[in-house]
Amino acid sequence: MDKLIIRGNVPLRGEVRISGAKNSALPIIAATLLTSAPVRISNIPHLHDVTTIISLLGQMGVSITLDERFNIQVNANNVNCFDAPYELVKTMRASILVLGPLLGRFGQANVSLPGGCAIGTRPVDQHLKGLRAMGATIDVENGYIKATAKNGLQGANIAMDIVTVTGTENIMMAAVLANGQTVIHNAAREPEIEDLAKFLNALGAKITGAGTSIIVIDGVKELTEGSYQVLPDRIETGTYLIAAAITRGKIKLKNTRPDIVESILVKLAETGAYIETGDDWILLDMKDNRPRAVDVSTAPYPAFPTDMQAQMMALNTIAEGTSIITETIFENRFMHVQELQRMGAQISLKGNTAICTGIDQLQGAPTMATDLRASASLVLAGLTAVGETSIDRIYHIDRGYECIEEKLTQLGARIHRMPHKNN
Ligand code: UD1
Repeated sequence: MDKLIIRGNVPLRGEVRISGAKNSALPIIAATLLTSAPVRISNIPHLHDVTTIISLLGQMGVSITLDERFNIQVNANNVNCFDAPYELVKTMRASILVLGPLLGRFGQANVSLPGGCAIGTRPVDQHLKGLRAMGATIDVENGYIKATAKNGLQGANIAMDIVTVTGTENIMMAAVLANGQTVIHNAAREPEIEDLAKFLNALGAKITGAGTSIIVIDGVKELTEGSYQVLPDRIETGTYLIAAAITRGKIKLKNTRPDIVESILVKLAETGAYIETGDDWILLDMKDNRPRAVDVSTAPYPAFPTDMQAQMMALNTIAEGTSIITETIFENRFMHVQELQRMGAQISLKGNTAICTGIDQLQGAPTMATDLRASASLVLAGLTAVGETSIDRIYHIDRGYECIEEKLTQLGARIHRMPHKNN
């Protein structure tokens, strides 16, 4: 397995371009199953998870071509298989996103249950409950969700018991071609949901309220062709901002959107960072100062994202003061703690709360990535640590960060990838 090697303690400086959002690209690519007309999508990030969903659609008979800039042209006019096999779903839980579109357009889907994952059990009961309310017959057998809607789906009033991002997306996609109106109450409000709705509306869907907790979808007969540009990745944005803050550097992020990272910017300002923003850029300057510790509690958007919790903890390990970090979304999302402790971090865990006492300097150490965002926190820790940090199982980071070592090198970091054969 590839490793990343970082020699840290270098302030990052310069400019970097933020990629398209993984969590927008995945549902948007899945949603192309809803139309037989050609669709063009740009600003797709070059990531393993994107390759996985492209392979999944490819297996179903969807034709997907990529140009040199990773724009994709999709044509789902020849879908001949409605299966999402375990082999693909186990590598990426977001594969569940094909369930809604397959059921909505073809009235059938056979999708492997995603099962547990490193950060928690992550059930899909809310997805199934919503689809059943729309008239789908769903059996869970032999690890597969077998769903049918012989006479098509019917619009329904759906109240989600839990705020779920992909659950909201699955129901929204299923409702686009349903008979009549669907209303999703207690919908997730993440910007990626609004992005998916804008994409679907660009193809002729009738969705209002995406980005609020009540989404209304009026079913249409069919979707047309269209093109769409994926929004910037707010988690990549936040991660690079912390890379600047943790190394006491100064960086400008381009092709991003400050309005979708407000909860992160507020916290970074509390650490003492100087922040300036424009329509599509953010500048963060630590002015060589040590960051101050900040408390963080994760919650659904617009609150502080769980996908930034590990990175914020890395920052707190070297900040001035003590911080309390509370994880309210996933029950087992503190696996980075042990690895950060190997680098000298002073963190104690109590249930879903981590108490972190900032120290002057982390020490480089061999570490292991356990999931996508945990691995980002180790990269951040490695960037500030004295000496060499190695991060094993780096495939996790390739699922969600495009060209991470190239981008960090551009900012002055000393980082390189050691391919498996040299380990
Ligand atoms: C999405 C994001 C992921 C992010 C997460 C929370 C994508 C592809 N992934 O994941 O990066 O960390 O939102 O912001 O967009 N739950 C249930 N039953 C369900 C569905 C969810 O109990 O049917 C629970 C989950 O176990 C979790 C919470 O609800 O505790 C939120 O999960 P959810 O928003 O569904 O996460 P994902 O959509 O899987």
